[in-house]
Amino acid sequence: FDYYEIIKEKDTYLPHIRDIKETLKVSLYERVLKVRLNLYYSVIDNALIKKSEIINEGNEILNVYNLTSSMVDYPIHDYEAIDLNGRWGQEFNVTRRYLNKGIVEFSSHRGVSSHQHNPFMVIVNKDTNEFYGEAYGFSLIYSGNFSFKCEIDEKNQLRVTNGLFIDDNGISLNKNENFITPECVLIYSSNGLNKLSHSYHDLFRKHLINPRFNYESIPIVLNSWESFYFDFDEEKIIKFINESKDLGFDTIVIDDGRFKNRNLDNSSLGDWVIDENKFPNGFKNVIKAIKKANMKLGLWFEPEAISRNSDLYKEHKEYAIEIKESEAIEFRNQLVLDFSKDEVIHYIFNLMSKILDTYDISYIKWDMNRPLADVKDALTYIKFAEGMYKLYDLITRKYPNILIEGCSSGGGRFDPGILYYSPLIWVSDDTDAYARSKMQYGASFVYPLMSLSNHVSICPNHQTFRNTPFKTRGDVAMFGSLGYELNILKLTSKEKEEIKKQIMKYKEIKEIILNGDLYRLSNPNESNYFIEEVVSKDKKRAEVLYFRSLFLANLPEQRVKLVNLKENTLYFIKELNIKANSNILVNFGFEFPLNN
Ligand code: DGJ
Repeated sequence: FDYYEIIKEKDTYLPHIRDIKETLKVSLYERVLKVRLNLYYSVIDNALIKKSEIINEGNEILNVYNLTSSMVDYPIHDYEAIDLNGRWGQEFNVTRRYLNKGIVEFSSHRGVSSHQHNPFMVIVNKDTNEFYGEAYGFSLIYSGNFSFKCEIDEKNQLRVTNGLFIDDNGISLNKNENFITPECVLIYSSNGLNKLSHSYHDLFRKHLINPRFNYESIPIVLNSWESFYFDFDEEKIIKFINESKDLGFDTIVIDDGRFKNRNLDNSSLGDWVIDENKFPNGFKNVIKAIKKANMKLGLWFEPEAISRNSDLYKEHKEYAIEIKESEAIEFRNQLVLDFSKDEVIHYIFNLMSKILDTYDISYIKWDMNRPLADVKDALTYIKFAEGMYKLYDLITRKYPNILIEGCSSGGGRFDPGILYYSPLIWVSDDTDAYARSKMQYGASFVYPLMSLSNHVSICPNHQTFRNTPFKTRGDVAMFGSLGYELNILKLTSKEKEEIKKQIMKYKEIKEIILNGDLYRLSNPNESNYFIEEVVSKDKKRAEVLYFRSLFLANLPEQRVKLVNLKENTLYFIKELNIKANSNILVNFGFEFPLNN
């Protein structure tokens, strides 16, 4: 130990918890190598924010192989770990496991936080459930490689470490150079997992998500992807806009396929100019139609991507991450731009600016469709993530009113780092209501419902081929930021009426859903039901989602005990047009009509 001091945080574009007033810095010094390790602790609401910094004060080069953001030791061991894992189309599975001797690691080495593991984890007692027991949460504000480890040693002590992942090559620090880790958000709950989630939701809504965006400013979006994929032009889009008029949408998002020669996923990434064949008048007429329909326009970009078959690659091959051109690994027919270089970031920023300066755009869907490969060293991975944040910073500073939806082939980069810049993130390319029920359940452990971008899509579903009632699709999607992704030109008038009704309902409940306290009442992985209740902060209103996965013959009726209502108060149940006393709803429960 060398010294401690209380410091003020410096301004940074790297994602962090906002509004921290003061931070405790504990400085440790190693005399032989002359290495300084600074540990930073800040407290805000009921969270502890932790990060570390290493400084080489010696004359030799210092190689750093590992530097965690947080490390917590539990002297008595009898714990389980909960993590969120998955794959493309099946994000946010929840796994709970007993921790025994040895090391369990949840990590990503893919350059993005990944579909495979989320930078979030909870340590719980064996008997902890949604309402009772201890829970220690760890959430890393980072979108690149990370590693979370739980180690039980020979004396049954548990050590939990969380931080970015460097690798065996390490990063080198010259004299007086430093390296700072991302922040880890540690939260404790003595009242189970729902309470832990409330604390994360409140903290992220208040102090992580860009304060410009709140429940009121999150638009209801109609996205073109599942309607047209790459197959559209000015005429089709204008028809799409005109037909969507008056259904209640706020914003139409033109997804992938609107820029130069992009007719399939094998070309043109990096050429961010409007395709003259599809849009001979640029977006002039599209904007006219949008304004006339009283909506706003959103556009898709994949800023970090480059196709070999593109003008950008012809002009600036050196902008792509490749070790050897012939061996570089393509994924979805594309490479990744080297965002560790400022020149590349500014090049893309200028291209994007040209479109954003010319047209009135209020929304960007920022996609990223592949993990990184061919990266020559650990530092490039780290610089890549920093470069991505730098571009986000440039865009959000220049266009503060544009809302950016995060996306990475679905939920491949759904993490607090992205949430800092994107108030909502596309959960998955699988929009099937049943599949989404499980993902929404998992994501809600740490991420607020506001951040879950949920779209009602067409049936049979494009990923699972399942048919689900329109109402069910809407009900599930409403437990998040509601949007749509279906071809309005092919809908029946009944379906259009249904959309109108859903949007009207959503507008009524949006404040509760996006601002309230969420209670997970039934786990869809362990039962036939996915049941969630969101209660407004003043407890005057609550919204319950009751989702039955399978209808079975002679099903017993399902009674659900609601929670957190005001005591002995009459609540009006709108859908059934009845009144009920909260004491009954809470203690005896509410029976959901079977055929609803
Ligand atoms: C992957 C995204 O998850 C989809 O929603 C869509 O935007 C496609 N990319 C477009 O290529």
